[in-house]
Amino acid sequence: MEASIRLRDIQIVWAAKMFRMIGAIGYGRRLIEGVGRTSAGAAIWGWILGYRRTFRALDEAERAVKPYAKGGHENRENLDLHLELNRVARPSDYAAFYYLRDPMPGIKTIFDLGGNVGNLYYCYKEYLPLRPDVMWTVYDLPETIAYGRTLASNRNIANLQFTDDLRQADGVDLFIASGSLQYFDKSLPELLKGIDRRPKYILINRVPMTEDKDFAVVQDAGHIRVACMLHNRSKLITDFERLGYRVLGEWEATELRLTVLDRPSSSVWAYTGLWLERV
Ligand SMILES: C[S@@+](CC[C@H](N)C(=O)[O-])C[C@H]1O[C@@H](n2cnc3c(N)ncnc32)[C@H](O)[C@@H]1O
Repeated sequence: MEASIRLRDIQIVWAAKMFRMIGAIGYGRRLIEGVGRTSAGAAIWGWILGYRRTFRALDEAERAVKPYAKGGHENRENLDLHLELNRVARPSDYAAFYYLRDPMPGIKTIFDLGGNVGNLYYCYKEYLPLRPDVMWTVYDLPETIAYGRTLASNRNIANLQFTDDLRQADGVDLFIASGSLQYFDKSLPELLKGIDRRPKYILINRVPMTEDKDFAVVQDAGHIRVACMLHNRSKLITDFERLGYRVLGEWEATELRLTVLDRPSSSVWAYTGLWLERV
């Protein structure tokens, strides 16, 4: 990082800390949002917060964070961290297990959107009755799938394969989007429209959603920064229903939250999980 970018980054990180603290109290929240509703105030907050402000679309947030992203999703430290995080199930995984347990023995093919290096496969196979012949396909970014392939081959895993082609989801039994939908500008119903034979089951987990209009922010995990989209929950469910799906289960992933710095009232206090079936 060059010096000017590093300085600006330090300023943004401190501004984000201040906004987080001030926005956590009622008066501070009203002040931030009141000032932000005026056009001059919005411009000032936007300048102070830089890549940590809210954006209308994912690509705007991606452009703003690019110089500060530290490799984003494909940062090797991040890949190792996710693998470690998923060694044991997290609270929201248990809700997923509740819905997966019964259909699992009949599920032969799984498509895992944003499945990283296969960390959910390694975790779930310890908790669920996966078929010995199940084929679990991970869709992710190029460097991540290259690392995932190496790990799977070192571990002699035959049930796990990797792809960068969404069309591989055609005809699968189960579609998983865990902790990943927020990194796509299109919503899942929009992505599924391009697939002829849509999955019978859909598991969505650990996704921040909003009741507001769709918007984007940047998540700062310290070691990486990534742009993140918040889709409107009600529209998402209506769009799924139009595609012929019914929501049979919904839960909160309380282990995750997202603070919206310049609109604290839009902060997400728990991520969402959904279980859907094609009717
Ligand atoms: C937070 S991790 C989720 C990992 C795992 N599914 C879980 O539930 O713990 C998000 C994943 O989405 C992937 N991802 C983000 N943007 C993507 C894109 N445009 N195409 C494919 N994968 C993407 C990242 O590389 C990362 O592996």
